[in-house]
Amino acid sequence: MDLLQKRIIFVGGKGGVGKSTTASALAYLLSTKGNRVLLVSTDPAHNIGDVFHVQAKKEIVRIHDTLDLLEIDSHNESKRYINSVKENLKGLVKATMIDEVNRQIDLASASPGADEAALFDRITSLILTERHRYDKIVFDTAPTGHTLRLLTLPELMNVWINGLLERRKKVQDNYTQLLNDGEPIEDPIYEKLQERKKKFTAVRDVLLDSAITGYAFVLNAERLPILETKKAVHTLSHHQIHVSTVIVNKIIPAHADGAFMQRRRECEQPYLEEIHTSFTKQQVITLPLFEHDISTLTHLQAFSTILEEAFSMYVNK
Ligand SMILES: Nc1ncnc2c1ncn2[C@@H]1O[C@H](COP(=O)(O)OP(=O)(O)O)[C@@H](O)[C@H]1O
Ligand SMILES: [Mg+2]
Repeated sequence: MDLLQKRIIFVGGKGGVGKSTTASALAYLLSTKGNRVLLVSTDPAHNIGDVFHVQAKKEIVRIHDTLDLLEIDSHNESKRYINSVKENLKGLVKATMIDEVNRQIDLASASPGADEAALFDRITSLILTERHRYDKIVFDTAPTGHTLRLLTLPELMNVWINGLLERRKKVQDNYTQLLNDGEPIEDPIYEKLQERKKKFTAVRDVLLDSAITGYAFVLNAERLPILETKKAVHTLSHHQIHVSTVIVNKIIPAHADGAFMQRRRECEQPYLEEIHTSFTKQQVITLPLFEHDISTLTHLQAFSTILEEAFSMYVNK
């Protein structure tokens, strides 16, 4: 099924290839076709707000009737997440222990991966709740490595939480033997972990459901983006995720004249061929290099028209 038909679309790729531009254009295009669209940027180097001339900070902002934007700052998200964890534990932990528990949480929050975990938590909530308020959610994700970890995190977390649940269950079994004549006692932390596990599993099901979620990678006709995209497509396929679409951006257009441009075009050619032979299981969409940056809404509209044409050409092939 076509990428544009999916309800959740992830746009990945190396920094600078035109990922945010493409994700914005896709979101814009879909929003002009009668869909309510939420565009979410998880890239720490946000620039989507600039294109739409809005300040997108923390909360969802309206771009127009059918298009909303949310830029998630993973560091802020991390702080917010840590506070909610502390809040949650307050009622569950003995008052004398609370300072020590908070100290441990602060330590954990400074560890590598904490921001990412918080970011993932936010994306999880978006997918599970906002999905029902919008027809489409388009994710502009950070550079490739980050995206991959993001997508494989539910699996890792599942393993981690299972281990934790098992250990807690053992402890709880011992307790119930000692305290309650073998009758099960309620364990709120156990319940909370179960809840989280359910959430992660639900999101994983959505991410793996190819009828709902689509994955596109943006790249340029250059060596490194091709290498990275190949690797990413391969890794994702190991996690049962099929990348349906590869978008080759910034191709030198036919009307670009002069010896210099001709030379550049010759350099590009073998890379384009490589892209076509490497990504036989993907739809390969090509987009031209513009004379200017895509930095205004008018530019973006022009860009999304070309994007639409490129998609429809593919469908008609
Ligand atoms: N087809 C294009 N032609 C000209 N400039 C482009 C094109 N696509 C993207 N750009 C510009 O390239 C720069 C990087 O694009 P961006 O979408 O921010 O990349 P990424 O999100 O992958 O880092 C931006 O200045 C953008 O306006
Ligand atoms: Mg970007």
